[in-house]
Amino acid sequence: MTIKDTVRKYSQKLKYVTHIPAKEVEILIGFLLDKNNIWLHLNNNNEFEKEKELEKLVNKRATNYPLEYIIRKASFYGESFIVKEGVLIPRPETELLVENAIEILKDINGTVNVVEIGTGSGVISVILALLIDDIKIIALDINEKALELAYHNAIKHKVEDKIEFRLSNLYEKVTEDDIHMTISNPPYIANDYKLPDNVKYEPSNALFGGAIGDELLKDIIKETSIRDIEYLLCEMGYDQKKPLGEYLKTLNVKDYSFYQDYEKFDRGFTVKFKNKNK
Ligand SMILES: C[S@@+](CC[C@H](N)C(=O)[O-])C[C@H]1O[C@@H](n2cnc3c(N)ncnc32)[C@H](O)[C@@H]1O
Repeated sequence: MTIKDTVRKYSQKLKYVTHIPAKEVEILIGFLLDKNNIWLHLNNNNEFEKEKELEKLVNKRATNYPLEYIIRKASFYGESFIVKEGVLIPRPETELLVENAIEILKDINGTVNVVEIGTGSGVISVILALLIDDIKIIALDINEKALELAYHNAIKHKVEDKIEFRLSNLYEKVTEDDIHMTISNPPYIANDYKLPDNVKYEPSNALFGGAIGDELLKDIIKETSIRDIEYLLCEMGYDQKKPLGEYLKTLNVKDYSFYQDYEKFDRGFTVKFKNKNK
């Protein structure tokens, strides 16, 4: 069977798990042949000789198993990252968090020191390291598998000298007192929330933030407020603006603002703390 006909045949099996079934089959074929999309389109009348392997991958994908875990990569901020099971797949809306951070960091003179809480695959820290010349990042996670993957992504993008990875529950392993900014996309879903099928293969410790969902976010806000760190930028759940806004009002905050994602859901915030020691 030709590549073109193979795509048509196997798209049928994926139409209930994705709105781009043909595109996903092409990606799987490209993965098996180690070829890019342009090559596939130029050669789509070639015989496809790996149908058995493709069938296995398509069947796996048809159970809602994420495409990114199958092909072991995901794109973020226009760059390609390694992903693997046990570590959260980066989401496009998190790019907004990075954009907000860059807006602030680009105006700081000298070396910028940043902490990332919950680095996962490392995408946030790696992009910051790629875009800000003089930066030192301490990237934290409680998941060893995530830290290992994040380190590999840092090497892949040649920024491993700018990022130090530490196994740490929140700030537990951070003793530095010259941090300008903390950035975090922490788990923020309520523990009893029933996840959609396409998320059930991702690690629960990257998703669930407590009985209500915002507990870890509040811990991060609180822990940052008692340190001499000027900025805190976090992603959050679409329904957490009100409780977090109220919580922020009880703290030593100079200014804060919330932002929305591409679908106009409330998705995160920037806090500027009153500088205590500077
Ligand atoms: C939503 S994922 C974000 C991953 C990545 N930063 C991203 O945006 O794609 C949250 C990450 O926080 C980590 N995490 C959860 N609880 C933590 C804690 N108490 N301290 C540090 N990291 C934590 C999880 O292991 C997970 O990697």
